[in-house]
Amino acid sequence: MALADLETVAAAMVATDKGILAADESSGTIKKRFDKIGLESTAESRRAYRELLFTTPGMAKAISGVIFYDETLRQKTSSGVPFPEYLAKQGVLPGIKVDTGAKPMAAFPNETITEGLDGLRERLVEYYQLGARFAKWRAVIDIGAGIPTGYAIQANARALARYAALCQEQNIVPIVEPEVLMDGAHDIERCEEVTDAVLTEVFDQLAGHRIHLEGMILKPNMVISGKKCPKQASAEQVAAATVRCLKRHVPSAVPGIAFLSGGQSPAEATLHLSLMNAIGKLPWQLTFSYGRALQDAALSAWGGKASAVEAGQKEFGRWARLNGMARSGRFKPGMETQAA
Ligand code: 13P
Repeated sequence: MALADLETVAAAMVATDKGILAADESSGTIKKRFDKIGLESTAESRRAYRELLFTTPGMAKAISGVIFYDETLRQKTSSGVPFPEYLAKQGVLPGIKVDTGAKPMAAFPNETITEGLDGLRERLVEYYQLGARFAKWRAVIDIGAGIPTGYAIQANARALARYAALCQEQNIVPIVEPEVLMDGAHDIERCEEVTDAVLTEVFDQLAGHRIHLEGMILKPNMVISGKKCPKQASAEQVAAATVRCLKRHVPSAVPGIAFLSGGQSPAEATLHLSLMNAIGKLPWQLTFSYGRALQDAALSAWGGKASAVEAGQKEFGRWARLNGMARSGRFKPGMETQAA
């Protein structure tokens, strides 16, 4: 393990005015996204879509790294350049999702445990050779009646820490992603309580597993009202609660925190990030690692049509740029509708 390499990569992932594109949708998830635009999901349509994103002019100004899914890491641009190589040439770091999904946890109804540890060391060796310099593992915590249980939180945190240790051993920076879902009817206070419990356990396990904090990135949810909650907290409340919660749990040795968007609209996710950065005096870089919030507009504008590649790229470029502005608190509501 070369600690200096891990630290250099982690710092580059959260560089000023930049964030990470999550383009690591599994074949099942990308099919759901393509269904919305009436496009069949094939290896070629998936490749063409990812090419649209990765070849967007100027994307490297706001995107420091891209998280790939296994299939995409092995695919090429239409002119035959492997995607990881294409991105690396532009100074964009290739990353890889290595968990194999959240599966029902035996004896714990409605809770999941993320799988993928078996054989992970060998897979990481290959991923490094294919160009990956960072990885991602997502644990999923749902809020509902009687859940989450402490045991499910602990089991997921332990798997995250074991994954992180294996990554660092192979010189790959782990993105540690414990996602508290925003799908329920719970209020923001309940989200904060659960996020508190999850981050307590995650950092306890990371310490126990001897993780080099300077060589990792945390990818958390924001502290936010459940989507079905009748009393939605304001954007200012989300920003204040999220920063408060993170300050209580995330050591300043961690170089950066890169949020997931989790089902927020692109404008909401961007505004929340901007308001948090506007608070200032934060001990870590606060940035984005969005999937849907960066891609939704691009996917609709493209619609699977070769003639609309440029329109799709314009939308992806727009949301990448706006989130780049949110890195320093410069995004303001309404900016998204201004001319590109
Ligand atoms: P969303 O921003 O769409 O939540 O995706 C981020 C991600 O990588 C979830 O694992």
